[in-house]
Amino acid sequence: MFTATLSPPNSAQTSAIPDDLFAAIESLKQELNAVILAHYYQEPDIQDIADYIGDSLELSRKAANTNADVIVFAGVHFMAETAKILNPNKLVLLPDLDAGCSLADSCPPDAFGEFKAAHPDHIVISYINCSAAIKAMSDIICTSSNAVKLVRQIPENQPIIFAPDRNLGRYVMEQTGRDMVLWQGSCMVHETFSEKKMVQLKIQHPEAEIIAHPECEPPVLRHANYVGSTSALLNYAQNSDSSVFIVATEPGIIHQMQKQAQDKQFIPAPPMNSCACNECPHMRLNTLEKLYLAMKNRAPEITLPEETRVAALRPIQRMLEMSA
Ligand code: 13P
Ligand code: SF4
Repeated sequence: MFTATLSPPNSAQTSAIPDDLFAAIESLKQELNAVILAHYYQEPDIQDIADYIGDSLELSRKAANTNADVIVFAGVHFMAETAKILNPNKLVLLPDLDAGCSLADSCPPDAFGEFKAAHPDHIVISYINCSAAIKAMSDIICTSSNAVKLVRQIPENQPIIFAPDRNLGRYVMEQTGRDMVLWQGSCMVHETFSEKKMVQLKIQHPEAEIIAHPECEPPVLRHANYVGSTSALLNYAQNSDSSVFIVATEPGIIHQMQKQAQDKQFIPAPPMNSCACNECPHMRLNTLEKLYLAMKNRAPEITLPEETRVAALRPIQRMLEMSA
């Protein structure tokens, strides 16, 4: 069994990429006693080799309960960081350390500290898509699948700051009837969908249902038959009687939708420009080769100051308790 005290191999051992990457990754998984957690926005090959695929909440739960010595997180930095916050003694690997998140970056700790100080009587509920430093300044963490449920548990007279995603925040306000002070952050991917092109697509496919992630802007959400987290969208598509869906979230999830409902058609909602900007450039930095190399080299590893980790753990634990 692998222990985190093993020293990394030297560079001569690390460079070659084997022909059968799937077999090589499986063998490293045994050698390291590793678990591979992947988000739905990862490329299909990574989803196929993962032990668990899920939305942010499911992956946090898996990270909290794993017996593995090594967690290989095929997702973005804040997700791997959350796994490290929950597992300080495990080695947490991210295939590409540059896999960040525009939404997390839209909430810098200094500016958020001032924002929080300007609302001293408010509690802070932060979407998990934020840095450990922002988590450390928060009272409760939420994900897109539990945000509504958690806000409903807060006493009516308790004012709330919701950060960093203004679109999810606005959606939660609509669902709960609660007023909240919103940090004005957003996701570059979910802001890219064109309402006009989506309506044109719906005219071409009148039988299609529009399913959307709550990080989308209000004009897109207004047309949605169903709004939910990535896992919720997947479940909805599987269980709905409809056979055609226009999917307003990162199209990586269509790989699972197509696998689980082979006779249904999934059409990615179109972005405003003729680009691939509905694909998350951060998520897509991870590749199967980089995942293999991360396991082979035991790097890049997620590390964070213990003081920040301990402060960030409290609101994550609160989320796990409140959404159990
Ligand atoms: P969920 O998988 O929790 O819905 O989050 C979507 C997302 O944007 C992850 O970066
Ligand atoms: Fe961040 Fe948006 Fe990419 Fe999710 S899809 S990781 S919120 S930039």
